[in-house]
Amino acid sequence: MPVFAVKGTHDLFGEEASCYAYIENVFKAVCELYGYKPIETPVLEYTEVFDRATGESSDVVRKEMYTFLDKGSRSVTLRPEGTAGVIRSIVEKKLYATVDLPLKTYYVGPVFRYERPQLGRYRQFIQAGVEAVGVDSPRLDAETIILAMRVLGMLGFDKLKVKVNTLGDQASRAAYKEALKSYFSEHIDDMCEDCHERLRLNPMRILDCKVEEDQKIVAGAPKMKDYLSQEAEKRFYETLSILNDLNVDYEIDDTLVRGLDYYGHIVFEVHAQSDTGADYGALLGGGHYDGMLNMFGGPKDNDSGVGFAMGVERIYSLMRDNNMLNDIETGLDIYAMPLGEDVRDDLFHIVEEIRTLGYSVEIPFTSLKMSSMFKRAERAKAKFALICGSEELERGVVQLKNLATKEQVEASIETLDATLDELFGEEQEEHHHHNHEE
Ligand code: HAM
Repeated sequence: MPVFAVKGTHDLFGEEASCYAYIENVFKAVCELYGYKPIETPVLEYTEVFDRATGESSDVVRKEMYTFLDKGSRSVTLRPEGTAGVIRSIVEKKLYATVDLPLKTYYVGPVFRYERPQLGRYRQFIQAGVEAVGVDSPRLDAETIILAMRVLGMLGFDKLKVKVNTLGDQASRAAYKEALKSYFSEHIDDMCEDCHERLRLNPMRILDCKVEEDQKIVAGAPKMKDYLSQEAEKRFYETLSILNDLNVDYEIDDTLVRGLDYYGHIVFEVHAQSDTGADYGALLGGGHYDGMLNMFGGPKDNDSGVGFAMGVERIYSLMRDNNMLNDIETGLDIYAMPLGEDVRDDLFHIVEEIRTLGYSVEIPFTSLKMSSMFKRAERAKAKFALICGSEELERGVVQLKNLATKEQVEASIETLDATLDELFGEEQEEHHHHNHEE
């Protein structure tokens, strides 16, 4: 009987796995540019963490969590998002008291949502996210958006726009919720079952409803911007003016409310369609939040945070469809070819030294014909073949063949480091030229 992967999950291997690693590395490097440091929290948390922080009115908490009782009859949940666990950890370990604020953290890891699997929607997927906490500043909010856009820029996306909206402060939201409540109460009989519950729990959630008939009613609903306090409005425009100064391309979308309950003030999302027309949903989403540290028993002051998370699967799919993955170097530097069994031991040694120099090298473990070794080198996308027989060994040399140009040079083993630096230096320049000509 065959056994299959769980529905909505996926395996990663080969070039696809390399591309995921590449995307994650770019993300991490950009985070480090902004002074963020890695944080890792457990995939498994007590269910309460998400009930409290992510919000009981959100679809994620109400319908999509992998929640179960462990053998000690405690309710635990596979994290459906990264923020709540990170804040739980920051409070529990009092991390905010050990560093200068804001405390800036980034993370990459799997999250779980019991959703209907479809294009761009998985039940286990990877989020790469950041959380910056302990400082309440429009500038920090703006910097977070700029960081997100830089990650996408570094990955090669150049025309993406970020959608922004403000959910205001608590007073603004309370006034807005009241207005929505009275508006939707009049229409609720014509709306879906879910919306009945949303009206009861949090009328703002109705704005997220995907049912077409309901959308028409939603279109006529009151708008957040008409319920903003003066201060909240001022803060929003302050953030936007920082984005303007730094030439961030954004668009105000007053229907953007986000699917999680903890947000206040600015929220944002980036959406994109692939060149082939596929829509994988939002590439990333995030925003500002207040009160979450205190919710977990942390301090009441300096209790703000801001962050976002991007869906690595969605970014990968879009990059694949738009042919943006071609330039990712996954090839080997050198494929070593022993000519005969008597050189194998020595060559094994030389290969290890080349690795110490920082070049990637592969050597076959079985005796192969020359032609098969060249085929393997090609499949491994090796730049050079290093060929060595007993005759070469006796003279203390190896042959280095550029597999693209077919040029071959003889190199002394003694000075191999200098020769490799020279050859790979030229390689690099060629590569540059090539890219600039395009
Ligand atoms: P979110 O919008 O729920 O925000 O998720 C962030 C990103 O995860 C989405 O933009 C999308 O790219 C990806 N994503 C969501 N669901 C799926 C799915 N079923 N399959 C594949 N990808 C998916 C959060 O989770 C917040 N914690 C972000 C945040 C951090 N806000 C403040 N700090």
